[in-house]
Amino acid sequence: AGKSSEYVEVDELENMPQSEQKKWEKEQMASAVYSFGAKEKAKRDEYELLLANQIDFIQALKLPGSKDKEDKKPELTESERKKLDIQETKKSLPVFPFRDDLIQAVRDHQVLIIEGETGSGKTTQIPQYLHEAGFTDDNKKIGCTQPRRVAAMSVAARVAQEMNVKLGNEVGYAIRFEDCTSERTIIKYMTDGTLHREFLSEPDLQSYSVMIIDEAHERTLHTDILFGLVKDIARFRPNLKLLISSATLDAQKFSEFFDDAPIFRIPGRRFPVDIYYTKAPEANYVDACVVSVLQIHATQPLGDILVFLTGQEEIETCQELLQDRVRRLGSKLKELIILPVYANLPSDMQAKIFDPTPPGARKVVLATNIAETSLTIDNIIYVIDPGFAKQNHFNSRTGMESLIVVPVSKASANQRAGRAGRVAPGKCFRLYTLWSYKHELEDNTVPEIQRINLGNAVLMLKALGINNLMKFDFLDPPPRETMVLALEQLYALGAFNHRGELTALGRRMAEFPVDPMMAKMLLASDKYKCSEEAVSIAAMLSVNGAIFYRPKDKIIHADTARKNFNHVGGDHLTLLNVYNQWRDSDYSTQWCYENFIQYRSMKRARDVREQLVGLMQRVEIEMVSNVSEVDNIKKSIISGYFYHVARLSKSGSYKTVKQNQSVTIHPSSALFEDLPRWLLYHDLVYTTKEYMRVVMEIQSKWLLEAAPHYYKPKELEDSTNKKMPKTVGRSTRTD
Ligand code: CDP
Ligand code: MG
Repeated sequence: AGKSSEYVEVDELENMPQSEQKKWEKEQMASAVYSFGAKEKAKRDEYELLLANQIDFIQALKLPGSKDKEDKKPELTESERKKLDIQETKKSLPVFPFRDDLIQAVRDHQVLIIEGETGSGKTTQIPQYLHEAGFTDDNKKIGCTQPRRVAAMSVAARVAQEMNVKLGNEVGYAIRFEDCTSERTIIKYMTDGTLHREFLSEPDLQSYSVMIIDEAHERTLHTDILFGLVKDIARFRPNLKLLISSATLDAQKFSEFFDDAPIFRIPGRRFPVDIYYTKAPEANYVDACVVSVLQIHATQPLGDILVFLTGQEEIETCQELLQDRVRRLGSKLKELIILPVYANLPSDMQAKIFDPTPPGARKVVLATNIAETSLTIDNIIYVIDPGFAKQNHFNSRTGMESLIVVPVSKASANQRAGRAGRVAPGKCFRLYTLWSYKHELEDNTVPEIQRINLGNAVLMLKALGINNLMKFDFLDPPPRETMVLALEQLYALGAFNHRGELTALGRRMAEFPVDPMMAKMLLASDKYKCSEEAVSIAAMLSVNGAIFYRPKDKIIHADTARKNFNHVGGDHLTLLNVYNQWRDSDYSTQWCYENFIQYRSMKRARDVREQLVGLMQRVEIEMVSNVSEVDNIKKSIISGYFYHVARLSKSGSYKTVKQNQSVTIHPSSALFEDLPRWLLYHDLVYTTKEYMRVVMEIQSKWLLEAAPHYYKPKELEDSTNKKMPKTVGRSTRTD
């Protein structure tokens, strides 16, 4: 026992003889630094007690196997690393020795597949190499797509720094609602969705000499569609160079798709990573993460920790718990720097994760799966992986889309583990059992195109003039039913006519970088004379991040403040209230502070709003305000979101109208205790139940007005009334 085993790859494990496998598992268990099985419960309680009493728990917690490694330092310490200046760092990247070969390969081939371990320098270095090699002469740009907003921004910042230019000048980025580029920009990072939109204004990508579709393995919807689009363009623009870059495995598949394009492999360097599993499944993995971080911090040699969580809320909870524990422990511990990173974190805060850790301290980064492949944080030695991620899921049978937390795939789990072995041998703590890993995790993540609503994508493709979508060149085609549903939805919205052709309305909808329902809502506000309000509501809905601030120690104050904004009409109008009052305060920070409103979210809403107003002007919609005509505001929302309607059923619960699926009002809604008969919801999120987030009361007859093609009067009859027993007081109320 205690002898640490090497990082075992999946198939290595699968191919082991049964007896070997048993032995290996036993070894794993024996060498596990911790486990949280039933037996360990006592130990954990004791540990809690120690924490509470602040006695010398560091001594008490010292676990077998950790002592002998106490003095072994990671091979590259932070101070050493600091000494390397940017140029040396660049030279130390695995891609560097291949610089000239790579440039030559790009010269020789129009399409090139690049495969290399995460962190090898693909994203930051290759555009620079190509720029140095003259690919940006003749006023042409090098483009590089990223599936994630955060990655596009942070990578652009990094490259600007390496090239010693101001971000937004020679090196820039473009993401939805934000364009940080200029006339001078020659290296442009952007989200895959942004490039998808660029096709509308520049269908041949004329301003680019090179286009890099990066992080191709992520297989986001937009990336998948870009494959088909760029493949097509490459045919009639022979001087456009196309690079498809991927971290893993899929290179062969990409190569075949691009007519057997050559694969350029950058040999990886990865140190062994020991993997540890828990003995029993974890009931509360956020808690388990906190305990694991503290255990590592208390017992393991210095080196930073990366924790994978599923979203902002979870990260904030984890952060608070950790800060709290660390505070209680006082000087018993070395300094622990806790840093969150998720998509909606303001960029100055995001940048902090790249700051070197001061000597003697340890950094713990709490991240979403952003850090799985898109972002490389140096000096990570320990990875804690609860094995979950948030995913958008579309059920083509019910036509309902919702955000759910799902187990990651084996491929993801191995990527995550690999993050621990970049600069030195590392350790990965999986908060699930080996059995789960082997039997419960899928091998690969299902590409997004096969599991999300295609409304947006279909509208964009039609706007690009691609008429027969069934014939589009997909790497993996989406399910037929999903495609049909998207076409039906767009037809009901009025974007397509009955022949499936784009209508004038559809063309205008495609101008907006939002989903078709929101685009329709914005366009409909013209008719209802409330464009100002519709734009504000759309901006508030697009923020994603929390609007209301709810610190644990001031929950009552925060909730009271929040109630002041509540609008009887529902959450959409509450959001409008918040925006309008903030505007009336002259966009004051102080006002936000006093009202428990997140200033950053509001600032973003204001930016988004400005963009939307610009787009409204482009489609020639006059900005008019009509804040007191609540019904009109509601009607324009319904014009877009008539799909998202639920009705109160006999049993006192909600069912969606068409699909008859059970849904529940999210506790955060002001209508949580109100239960109106007809509800429109903005989106669904699945945790323990299917929750409707951001809801408002509507009248069923408005649905007929908004979507005569979609709803039949019969479907909207209130038969529930008659059958309702008189005793169910609350549910028998009528509109
Ligand atoms: O794309 P790939 O995963 O191959 O690597 P990369 O993103 O180009 O990262 C290469 C190096 O740049 C890594 O050592 C990162 O730590 C560093 N980098 C950074 O310091 N700051 C960033 N914002 C991005 C990358
Ligand atoms: Mg990369």
